[in-house]
Amino acid sequence: MEKVVSGIRSTGNLHLGNYFGALVNFIKMQHENNCFFFIADYHSLTTHPDPKTLNGNVRNVLSEYLGAGLDPDVATLYVQSDVPEVTELSLLLSMHTYVGELERTTSFKDKIRKHPDNVNAGLLTYPVLMAADILLHRADRVPVGKDQEQHLEMTRKFARRFNTIYGVDYFPESQPYTFGKGLIKVPGLDGTGKMGKSEGNGLYLIDDDKSIRSKVMKAVTDSGPTKPEEPMTEPISNIFKLMEIISPEDTHKFYLDKYNNCEIRYGDMKKQLAEDIITTISPIRERILEIRKDTDYLNKVAREGAEKAKASAQKTLSDVREIMGFSKFK
Ligand code: TYM
Repeated sequence: MEKVVSGIRSTGNLHLGNYFGALVNFIKMQHENNCFFFIADYHSLTTHPDPKTLNGNVRNVLSEYLGAGLDPDVATLYVQSDVPEVTELSLLLSMHTYVGELERTTSFKDKIRKHPDNVNAGLLTYPVLMAADILLHRADRVPVGKDQEQHLEMTRKFARRFNTIYGVDYFPESQPYTFGKGLIKVPGLDGTGKMGKSEGNGLYLIDDDKSIRSKVMKAVTDSGPTKPEEPMTEPISNIFKLMEIISPEDTHKFYLDKYNNCEIRYGDMKKQLAEDIITTISPIRERILEIRKDTDYLNKVAREGAEKAKASAQKTLSDVREIMGFSKFK
């Protein structure tokens, strides 16, 4: 049985990027593998959340995991900070990580460009903590979206480096994973780039039908193709991409043919897309809202998940300490 590890930051409600980039794969993988899925609340600290909302954010994501279909009886679901062993592993790995390689990480460079007023050390060492999350359970596979590819490459580099330095074959080379055609990037509704929490261009699992319709109808488009088979502008190719991910295959093909024949009416296409999104999201939303009310159940899932994750983490830490030469005074 392969080991699978992945997580999502608790910085707000989950959007369709999180869902199609990661969560659907978690759900598909849970039955055939030994899975550890966590809520990355330590990672959410880089943006300094209000202490009053930190736990609420974690609970929201936990209820979204469950509402989307993760089963705590088959997969280990836990909160990252309930297993602080990960911070020790992160510290140990950081001793063999070079500041230069962290400074060259794309996500770090992006963050310092967008938020020059908050270049904290946690942002710089973010990939080390992420590698520790993965190596803590010695994962074979890590279901993630396209934007995490470089972090996974770094994780493999850190694992190889550890194995080489200590002359062991301890950490596996964890591979990014998704069902279908490679890692995906779900676009946003604002015509450019990916769907993200901070971009304000997202559709959320918790959105009601009315706001889904209104957000999709407002999605950026252009003035339409003027000749057959005209290459698409980015906003249009993004709407087609969303449709390809969410709608039935023949619906996507129908609108693609319309586009190629210059007969497309973007309004009709967006209406269809909104209905297809609602078909996917509304049953999930109803379950999330139910589960959110059940505090005892959420507590129980997190408590039992933490226990299982701790057992796995403690075993790894004990091996790593021994490999690195720590030894207990008796
Ligand atoms: P985060 O919280 O930004 O996103 C969680 C997951 O959702 C995917 N994702 C997307 N996929 C496709 N299109 C999008 N627009 C989109 N937006 C988000 C991400 O690729 C990710 O899989 N560093 C991670 C959290 C993390 C983690 C880990 C993941 C911490 N430790 C260990 C895996 C293993 C992050 O910030 O993801």
